[in-house]
Amino acid sequence: MTFVVTESCIRCKYTDCVDVCPTDAFREGPNFLVIAPDDCIDCGVCVPECPVQAIYAGEDVPPDQQDFTALNAELAQQWKPITRTKPALPDADAWAAVAAKRDLLQR
Ligand code: SF4
Ligand code: F3S
Repeated sequence: MTFVVTESCIRCKYTDCVDVCPTDAFREGPNFLVIAPDDCIDCGVCVPECPVQAIYAGEDVPPDQQDFTALNAELAQQWKPITRTKPALPDADAWAAVAAKRDLLQR
């Protein structure tokens, strides 16, 4: 089992999660991060760092977000590692209040 980034990260990308990860498991896309399942050691320290509660343990991913588990694995093979926290995307705070935004995910 691995940890998974879900929909609320889209268009926010606060990246507070990145600095605490002991294995540099995060990968970065244009407006979303994913966790590489092969690098995640299931420590859970990234979960409370995310201001929009986007990160879940695999077994706790909400029913309507289950597809994000496979999506994290798929995109982790395509995107490059991000190892340091950086500024959030413009308008991140406005997008944090938007629940349905999966169609806005850029690959
Ligand atoms: Fe990194 Fe731990 Fe989060 Fe996995 S659970 S992505 S190892 S901080
Ligand atoms: Fe995304 Fe939350 Fe990390 S918004 S980039 S999962 S801190």
